[in-house]
Parts: sequence; C-alpha cells; structure tokens
Amino acid sequence: MKPVIVVHGGAWAIPDDMAKASVDGVKSAATAGFLAMKRGGSALDAVELAVRALEDNPTFDAGHGAVLNTNGEVELDSIIMDGRTLAAGAVSSVKNIANPVSLARAVMEKTDHIMLTDRGANMFAESVGIPTVPTDALVTECERKEWEKAKKYAVGVKELFNSQWGHDTVGAVARDCSGNVACATSTGGIRNKMVARVGDSPIIGSGGYADNLSGAVSCTGHGESILKVTLARLILFHVEQGKGAPEAIEVSLRYMGDRVQGGGGAIVVSRTGEWAAKFTTERMAWAAVEREVLWYGLNPKEEFKETLTQ
Ligand code: GLY
Repeated sequence: MKPVIVVHGGAWAIPDDMAKASVDGVKSAATAGFLAMKRGGSALDAVELAVRALEDNPTFDAGHGAVLNTNGEVELDSIIMDGRTLAAGAVSSVKNIANPVSLARAVMEKTDHIMLTDRGANMFAESVGIPTVPTDALVTECERKEWEKAKKYAVGVKELFNSQWGHDTVGAVARDCSGNVACATSTGGIRNKMVARVGDSPIIGSGGYADNLSGAVSCTGHGESILKVTLARLILFHVEQGKGAPEAIEVSLRYMGDRVQGGGGAIVVSRTGEWAAKFTTERMAWAAVEREVLWYGLNPKEEFKETLTQ
C-alpha cells in the first residue's frame, strides 16, 4: 500500500505575516512524516515525527510557541492513537515538556492507562527519562506580547475567530504501507484559558481518533465545541456510513456550527487512503503527501501541489 500523511497547523485566522511560516511548517512536517514511512516506519512513527516537528516550530500553538493561560503559564495537551489496536496515550495540562506528543506515546506504550495529567504526567516523564525544559524556553516573545495585550479570554467563539490568532493546535494523520492508520494532536490550547482548563485535543474521540476499520482524524478549533460533538468520532462515523473523507468532515463541521455554533477544522485519512483537510474558520494551514506529491493550502477552496523533491 502507498503511504499517505496529512498534517495541520491549526485553524483560526492566521495573520498574513505568519502565513508563509505556517505553510512552510506544515509542508516540512508532512514531508518528514512521509519519508519516515517510505523508509519503513509505521503510521504511528510518522504522526509522532510530524507533530514533534510542529511542536518544535514556534509558529504554532504547541510545544515551543504555545499560548499562555491566565497565569502566564504554558500548559500543554496531546494525544496519540494507534488504529491497529485502538491503543491511545494522552497527557493534559503538562508543563515544561517540549514534546508532549512523545510523552503521550510513552503513556500509551509504558503504562496501563490512557491519560496522565498535570503533576502526575511530569512525574511519569521523569521516570521514563523525558527531559523537562524551563517554561521560558517554550514561550516566544511574540506570544508574551500578545498575552500582555489581551489579558482576557476572548468572549465567545465569534470573537475568538476574529481575533487574528497567530497559531493554533497541530496534528497529523497517516496510513502506512501495511494499511495501519494513526493520529496525533498537540496544543497549548486557547490564550488566557483558565489554569488547568483542558480542551478537546487530548480527549479520545474529540481531538483525535484512529481505527484501522475506518480511518484517522485530527481536529483543531474551539475545544469546548469540539468536545460537545466528539468531532473526531463524528467524522469517522460518517466515513463508516459510506461518506467520502471530504464530505464526512464537511457534514460534521456543519453540524458543529449549527448545533453549538462552533468552528474549527479537521484532517482525515480513511482506511482506503482517501484523505481530506477542511475547515470553517478563516484559515487553516495543512499539507498532505501521497505518491510523491505534496499538496498544501491555507485559505478556503485553495489547494496547491508540487512534486516532492527529497
Ligand atoms: N482545539 C484546542 C483547544 O481548544 O484547546
């Protein structure tokens, strides 16, 4: 089977001065994940690698570059899921961890649990040798300035959409040469969120889901809305009912908009390798690689492609 990977760098209204960095970031993360699968790596390896690249990139709201909570702290959420076995690992409200997606993978592979939170997640990180970093190492000057300026949580989803958010949640979905699918999602959440607020990203079935019988999904957007409709599972439900990948996302996002007035985006790869990236926000940076072709976009109804050069 041909490997396929799709990544996103988050929904919302990405400002023009961050557009190129956002698109370049998703293109290079998707390429890295695809090449890992070409070398024989699993879908799980590919999504972890792609999300680590996005976490390390200060353009995005995950790992380095994450947004700050009301106390001016970085609290990170992440999930990873293996569609072969339905094994999943997640962490929520973790501090001082540069790559929460790898900590989530360690939870999946080295504990009997699915999610660890806050202090316990950090204790576990220490026990498996995942290093901590000082908070300041994760905070960009740009985010500190934005946080100083805002000093309050945007009221309502509409204000969030229109507040020119520079960056958001990141995620990846992949299907490897053996037909296994996987997903990973990672985020700093929403600026000025309450301390210990957890959004959709680390919640199984909301921020992500992967099942070899249907496909893999990673979501981005307004966490409280995504949680209410369990968006990742909802999209896969529609795939199971026979909808194509693009339509499954569109129907689910429309439902979220109508039912709870929420907005966001998602990426999907189905078990047959059909993929899609769709969103109801102003922009969402995304990229996909399939058969040595790199597809990418940022604005609605916009799609570019180029031959993979590496
Ligand atoms: N979708 C990310 C969050 O709301 O935390």
